[in-house]
Amino acid sequence: MTTRYPQAGFQVCRQGSVELWCGDFFHFHIEQAAEIGAFYDRASLIALPPATRQRYAFHLAQLVPPGSRGLLISLEREPGDEGGPPFSVLPDEVRDLFTPNFQVTLLEQGEPEPGRGFRESAWALVRRGPLE
Ligand SMILES: C[S@@+](CC[C@H](N)C(=O)[O-])C[C@H]1O[C@@H](n2cnc3c(N)ncnc32)[C@H](O)[C@@H]1O
Repeated sequence: MTTRYPQAGFQVCRQGSVELWCGDFFHFHIEQAAEIGAFYDRASLIALPPATRQRYAFHLAQLVPPGSRGLLISLEREPGDEGGPPFSVLPDEVRDLFTPNFQVTLLEQGEPEPGRGFRESAWALVRRGPLE
């Protein structure tokens, strides 16, 4: 059975041990996250302008405990295409954003999609501990 309720400015949807918190990511705090074992970002980072991407990477690192694993799907526009959103986030930027707090591994880089002008890449992130 699914239950839905408002909490701390979010709409929460709960089934069993899984909760979905819908709201502003930057207002989601560690006190609200009992324990995050895994995370998934498809096309969230690339919806944000550059300065906000820094905040995003830092906030994510505050939320997830060491060992937590994530799958990040990013997007790269053709060279010279500075449009957005969605913004082009090059592989070097993904590494720069997350390497301070995560092990970062490029899993796969797609081919440019005909007619869309960009390609996706998949990244594995693992939150590092304080001594790593
Ligand atoms: C490009 S869409 C991707 C949607 C979906 N994940 C997908 O892959 O089709 C970017 C999403 O980021 C969400 N978003 C942008 N800023 C956000 C924020 N501060 N907190 C939560 N979601 C945000 C937008 O509402 C939008 O749904």
